[in-house]
Amino acid sequence: MTLVGSENQRPKTEDQKSKNQVTAFNLKHLLGIRELSVDQITHLLDTAETFLDVSRREIKKVPALRGRTVINLFFEASTRTRTSFEIAAKRLSADAVNISVATSSVSKGETLLDTARNLEAMAPDCIVIRHSSAGAPQHLARFCNAAIVNAGDGAHEHPTQALLDLYTIRERKGKIEGLNVTILGDILYSRVARSNIWALTKLGAKVTLCGPSTLVPRVFEQMGCRVTYDVEDAIRDADIINLLRIQHERQRKTMFPSLGEYATLFGLNKERLKRTKPDALIMHPGPINRGVEIDSEIADCERSLILEQVTNGLAVRMAVLFLVNGGKGPQEIAT
Ligand code: CP
Repeated sequence: MTLVGSENQRPKTEDQKSKNQVTAFNLKHLLGIRELSVDQITHLLDTAETFLDVSRREIKKVPALRGRTVINLFFEASTRTRTSFEIAAKRLSADAVNISVATSSVSKGETLLDTARNLEAMAPDCIVIRHSSAGAPQHLARFCNAAIVNAGDGAHEHPTQALLDLYTIRERKGKIEGLNVTILGDILYSRVARSNIWALTKLGAKVTLCGPSTLVPRVFEQMGCRVTYDVEDAIRDADIINLLRIQHERQRKTMFPSLGEYATLFGLNKERLKRTKPDALIMHPGPINRGVEIDSEIADCERSLILEQVTNGLAVRMAVLFLVNGGKGPQEIAT
């Protein structure tokens, strides 16, 4: 059971950071950002800060989850998320097992639930799941005793991506409340967009969405965002520009004429970057498509946080695994 928090809670002040406080996380699973309260999100980020320090040590390991087993059950391709959960589990001294659909009995017709129940018969403490169907992690959480962590379900949510994005913004800008964050690209099919929208609006950022009208329906305004189809308008006042790739694997028909036209109308290039605030920072969850949503030189420029996001993602996933396995907070980690 997840705790259901008030969706539009705002932090009272930026000083509300709960670093080193004993705050009950009280969450058996991490299924989405939508269910999290501001305090839970803040507690997660503060715990991740401690784990970032662990990854900077010569011996990058703490005994926090010694004797625990974490299974990574990935039904979709992944580079960052799967590797990062595996390393996170290992740095916490847990045993990590990776299962990919191509080598599992799912290819012989076994259902998702039967697969999970058979894995559970081996008493894992946590199952991290990525699946093409929205709601797959919630389904497992109803029937499994292990803690379930959503590593991306269809176009629904990708909570750990949003948490690492929040972490990266907070670290670079010192706050989230009041920032202008533009998410540019394929919003409709993006679980990253949905989790980021929940997370950013809960923490008081002003979120603008932009992309082709077929990929950014106005219904997103109901989530508290501004929608514009004018890219210049979207990036002009942005403190953060988060670029999303086109999710070809989820689109059932062509949503715009060509990738070339997309790059011309919505891609972030050198000329467009000149028309942003000098301290605007560029983010992308990856994988990036160079020359489509982002020009190569921008992906590699000093304002790009793309690899920093990956580094922070490891710390965030350590925090998630630690907390859903009963950890209380950063005060429990040896310094
Ligand atoms: N950002 C992200 O989820 O990347 P992967 O698909 O490589 O895990």
